[in-house]
Amino acid sequence: MPRHFLTLLDLSPSELLQVTHRASELKKLHYAGSNPKPFDGKQLAMIFEKSSTRTRVSFESGVSQMGGDALFLSPRDTQLGRGEPISDSAKVISSMVDMVMIRTFAHGTVEEFAKHSRVPVINALTDMYHPCQLLADLQTFQEHRGSIEGKRVVWVGDGNNMCHSYINAARQANFELHIAAPEGYDANADLMDANKDRVRVFRDPKEAVKGADLVVTDVWASMGQEEEQAKRENDFAGFEVNADLMSYANSDALYMHCLPAHRGEEISAELMDNPETVIWDEAENRLHAQKALMEFLLNA
Ligand code: CP
Ligand code: NVA
Repeated sequence: MPRHFLTLLDLSPSELLQVTHRASELKKLHYAGSNPKPFDGKQLAMIFEKSSTRTRVSFESGVSQMGGDALFLSPRDTQLGRGEPISDSAKVISSMVDMVMIRTFAHGTVEEFAKHSRVPVINALTDMYHPCQLLADLQTFQEHRGSIEGKRVVWVGDGNNMCHSYINAARQANFELHIAAPEGYDANADLMDANKDRVRVFRDPKEAVKGADLVVTDVWASMGQEEEQAKRENDFAGFEVNADLMSYANSDALYMHCLPAHRGEEISAELMDNPETVIWDEAENRLHAQKALMEFLLNA
């Protein structure tokens, strides 16, 4: 049975640490011009049912840096967009490649694909989770501040796919998570319930960020929610991560954003354009973290 990465719970806490540490090692090797080539002759199929910049570039470059090839598949010009069952597509595609990465809407789609795949399947974002981004975020925190265990992380914004992955990360990496969301935008109730020992909900972002070691935000309207943009801008008023809000956090607190960002909405231009920000490291670490992840899954 192949190992899949559909959520952070698919790797044990120690395997997650192994991957994020290896990611930092691969980053150094990359800078030194000595990328290992364990993917020689290996193919990654990349299925994108939603837009992407970082995910596509990082997977495609990552595979090629490690000696393999990536194949971009969009529903527009494959049978995936014409209703061929996921199970059939999974059987066929996984008989021809060595790994599959999927970005789609329903989380059930990646689960169904994985069930019928003979090679590792990686969730590259669903409506429910974005675990690859968390690998990069965890790596980034580790590189700048050391272990995240026991730290206070504060999510400010929508209870969305990124927030859900932060809830899983809190459990796997053993940190405390505060979630500041307006009423009506809470994270999934079952997930919250399963993690109530380490996750607390706040309505006041300032209260939530007190004592924070890391503050994280994301867009108010995710992909697929574009028509709710105006209503959400209204409902999320007061939830911008900015210098004033960060003044309530610990003085050495980091802030992150998975990107793309909307300056002046969920994050201020001042924070985005601050030369000290780790947001660009966070984005770059997608490359290194996913290389480590693919290496791990192929060796598992
Ligand atoms: N953060 C992230 O997943 O970015 P893309 O949508 O550009 O892939
Ligand atoms: N929550 C965002 C993340 C984008 C990387 C979305 O799903 O659109």
